[in-house]
Amino acid sequence: MEATHALVRDMIKHPINISSKRFIEHTNAYYQWLREEAPVYKGKLSVLTVYLLSRYNDCVELLMDRRFVRNRTTVTGGKNRVPFPVPKAISLVAQNMILADEGQRLSEDELVSMVLLLILAGFETTVHLITNAVVTLLLHPVQLQRLRDQPDLMSSAVEEIVRYNGPVQSTKPAYASEAITLHGVTIPRGAMVLPLLGAANRDPAVFERPEVFDIARTPNRHLGFGQGIHYCLGAPLARMETRIALQTLLKRNPNLRLAVEPKALKLQTIPTWHRYERLPVVLG
Ligand code: HEM
Repeated sequence: MEATHALVRDMIKHPINISSKRFIEHTNAYYQWLREEAPVYKGKLSVLTVYLLSRYNDCVELLMDRRFVRNRTTVTGGKNRVPFPVPKAISLVAQNMILADEGQRLSEDELVSMVLLLILAGFETTVHLITNAVVTLLLHPVQLQRLRDQPDLMSSAVEEIVRYNGPVQSTKPAYASEAITLHGVTIPRGAMVLPLLGAANRDPAVFERPEVFDIARTPNRHLGFGQGIHYCLGAPLARMETRIALQTLLKRNPNLRLAVEPKALKLQTIPTWHRYERLPVVLG
């Protein structure tokens, strides 16, 4: 354990930037270091400064604490605008929606939010949950066989996949509405804070042998769908889609296997996501 710590310590570049390739390639080692050494860490999300929380209980508290707000403008004042230019494709969709729905006009912000919701919340997440489910099972053949032998473990397996290898590694940013001190670190008013759900999901204070993938794990109170008032609206649908996809894929393909070496599976460099560039498999 000590040796691992030394390796991780030497590997880490400060300030930790969660957008970096290095962080994404060694996420779980970084998570371990953060949980143990710096549970409130002033890091970077690309060029932005962000406070990172990595312990399970701190993440839960943040998600339940009304002093952390989601709308940046509540803290900073100013207009309630989407903080980036609206892409043309979205403007076109918005115009069509306005025309199609005379009399019940939504504001531009509402329309942009709705399109982002449909694309980001409802599509990308589940595609990558299913992909991560297949990768994780193929990399754990004993657990895969156990699932084939005991299909009633499917729901529990999906929960464990979300915990162990979930596609969404953080919630949307929260902003401190006042200065908040935690573990001796003061998060200033207005600062951006991210609860690292993926780190919380491997916190040994809550999960026994968290690094072990166990499709029958119980209890399994993971944070892979968030927590509190922003708890994932689509969680039941995402769970159902993943169950059906896995059931069908495993039934039709008793010899399903990876078509490449595991080390050839590359993660996309997208902060707060855990998603593979591609997943080549052999059906059969
Ligand atoms: C059918 C697919 C899905 C739909 C329609 C959906 C929809 C949503 C919506 C609307 C929210 C925002 C709730 C709010 O702000 O009050 C949300 C939050 C969230 N979703 Fe999903 N989601 C889906 C799949 C997933 C999947 C597969 C994951 C990861 C395993 C996931 C993880 C999350 C997380 C972590 C949050 C909390 C975000 C936050 O607190 O900022 N979602 N989801």
